[in-house]
Amino acid sequence: MNLHSDNVILRPFRESDAGRMAELANNEKIGRNLRDGFPYPYSLEDAARHIKRFQQFKSYFAIEYKGEYAGNISLTPLDNVYRKTAEIGYFLGEPYWNKGIMTTAVNIITKFGFNEMGLARIHTGVYEYNAASQKVLEKCGYIKEGVFRKNVFKEGRLWDEVRFAKINPDLEMLQNDQ
Ligand SMILES: CC(C)(COP(=O)(O)OP(=O)(O)OC[C@H]1O[C@@H](n2cnc3c(N)ncnc32)[C@H](O)[C@@H]1OP(=O)(O)O)[C@@H](O)C(=O)NCCC(=O)NCCS
Repeated sequence: MNLHSDNVILRPFRESDAGRMAELANNEKIGRNLRDGFPYPYSLEDAARHIKRFQQFKSYFAIEYKGEYAGNISLTPLDNVYRKTAEIGYFLGEPYWNKGIMTTAVNIITKFGFNEMGLARIHTGVYEYNAASQKVLEKCGYIKEGVFRKNVFKEGRLWDEVRFAKINPDLEMLQNDQ
């Protein structure tokens, strides 16, 4: 399924995205904000492996800006008693930063998560130094719920993690679902 707004399209991954994904993701400024499964340096093999895995999920998307692959965005549903919650994750290649693209992409996937996936809650943890990502989430109506102190070990030291979440505005409808 393709989801779109303005010049931003979320679409399923293609094997042919690997080359550009590897070029854009091979950037220390990106890797330092993501989990270690998204390493720096980032190789073509990393991109091909990730694409193969991402294609198994209906809520993992490539971001296209004006027809070009520009980054990734995903919702990963949790399980057990947390099964009405998903974690949001994303990155955008540096040439595309500060044009409002990720704000648009987060708004699109949040609507998809609530309306199509029936989620009650979408959340993520942002590393303390990632002001741009915190700004994106705030612009999309995510609320800062708290700080998980020294929860992240990255670049050889501990950092605080800031938890942001958004609740489905149609929550009442979901309360009685299985
Ligand atoms: C964080 C990221 C997704 C932002 O994408 P983007 O498309 O540039 O975001 P937007 O343009 O929609 O919004 C960015 C906002 O942050 C602000 N911003 C950018 N750099 C900033 C900084 N260093 N300090 C404070 N605010 C900053 C921008 O001014 C903008 O706010 P504004 O619209 O009020 O001016 C992108 O930089 C990225 O992929 N970074 C690396 C990976 C990453 O951090 N992933 C998220 C992990 S939680």
